[in-house]
Amino acid sequence: MQNIQTELQKQELEAWQNLTRVLRHEIINSITPISSLTSTLREILDHELVKKENDYEMKGDVADDLREGLSTIESRSKGLIKFIDAYREYTSLPQPKIKTVLLKELIEKTAQFMRQQLKNTSLEFSSSYSSEYLTIQADAEMIEQVLINLIKNAIESLLQNEHGKIELIGTYDGQNVLIQVIDNGPGIIPEAINRIFVPFFTTKKSGSGIGLALSRQIMQMHDGSLTVESEPNVKTVFTLRF
Ligand SMILES: Nc1ncnc2c1ncn2[C@@H]1O[C@H](COP(=O)(O)OP(=O)(O)OP(=O)(O)O)[C@@H](O)[C@H]1O
Ligand SMILES: [Mg+2]
Repeated sequence: MQNIQTELQKQELEAWQNLTRVLRHEIINSITPISSLTSTLREILDHELVKKENDYEMKGDVADDLREGLSTIESRSKGLIKFIDAYREYTSLPQPKIKTVLLKELIEKTAQFMRQQLKNTSLEFSSSYSSEYLTIQADAEMIEQVLINLIKNAIESLLQNEHGKIELIGTYDGQNVLIQVIDNGPGIIPEAINRIFVPFFTTKKSGSGIGLALSRQIMQMHDGSLTVESEPNVKTVFTLRF
């Protein structure tokens, strides 16, 4: 247990280091050209602005240079603000507004959303629940967000698969209500399975590695859990436990 705890703390520290690395990278990438452009523009003003009695004068191409430089500064800083702002939702999640939620409704709503997403693909999708009367204590919107993350991952894992299949299942195991997202894609090798929940761990070219970390945090805020079991190419099961 102690080992697991230490390992988790180590992973958390690594996650923070990753976050710092990403932010540092983006800030430096944006601020460096802003800083050097600002110096250049000031030098241009120092040299090219000519005092004429009570007015100043500059050549047309100088004015063009200034305008261009300023618009670069503007777009770089706007981009940086947008990027940093996007991290808000990942670092401070809103507190869930817990209500009694009918499992059936949650599954049906998510399934409807999924069918729309899968319209133009060859992927098979099915959903079911073991009883109409099962309920959970949850913030329905946040759980939908988790399910969408999981199903999005399942779809992405099945893109090359001709017989791809995704299942969404709601059940009760005698103790907890479970919601499972199952796919028959390539799955996750044992070496990677503990890392997939760590923020910024991704194996995708344009992935951010945020989806599962965020989803697990949402489940923890519900006093529940999010776990995975994977048998590559046969069955990968993500389980939400309430
Ligand atoms: N159903 C799945 N099948 C196979 N691998 C998966 C599955 N779900 C997650 N993974 C692995 O876990 C990694 C982390 O998933 P996560 O959703 O956190 O990030 P991501 O999908 O890479 O990026 P994004 O931030 O866009 O969600 C993925 O890159 C992938 O390697
Ligand atoms: Mg994802």
